[in-house]
Amino acid sequence: MAIRRILRMGDPRLLQVSAPVTDFQSPALQALITDLYDTMQAANGAGLAAPQIGVPLRVVIFGGGRSPRYPDAEAVPATVLINPVLEPLGAAQEEDWEGCLSVPGLRGRVPRFTTLRYAGCDATGQRFERTVSGFHARVVQHEVDHLDGILYPQRMRDLRSLGFNEELFPGQELRDD
Ligand code: NI
Repeated sequence: MAIRRILRMGDPRLLQVSAPVTDFQSPALQALITDLYDTMQAANGAGLAAPQIGVPLRVVIFGGGRSPRYPDAEAVPATVLINPVLEPLGAAQEEDWEGCLSVPGLRGRVPRFTTLRYAGCDATGQRFERTVSGFHARVVQHEVDHLDGILYPQRMRDLRSLGFNEELFPGQELRDD
């Protein structure tokens, strides 16, 4: 379909709370999902949320593929998640590096719940749920934050870890979401 422009931090549309999807039969929804995939692939992203391409609906995609540079990274299945609901399992959080296609070139350390259950609908409106931890749990929390108008720097506890990829990880290929 189309590779869309990814909005960057500073665009007020990234701060909006997005609306639930109500019509799963809509051709516009299927076109949106295709555009999200095309845009994520073109940007070599690990995930993408609809508001990042200017569509204020509760739709995120993530997973699928992995960087040949990081063959050990846990595989996250290619997922379309609509109207997600997250439920942390336990209070444990861990801090790790995140980047974002809407905050290009930067990375920072962000605390996230280690383990959670998430539920929502797939592209056909079928409900599903998963219990995940680690990187998978982190990606879901990052993407769902986009639906509530939250970018990862707002989650950081210590902005001193915020920096440019080229300084923090020289020579490494990184994927953002
Ligand atoms: Ni992001």
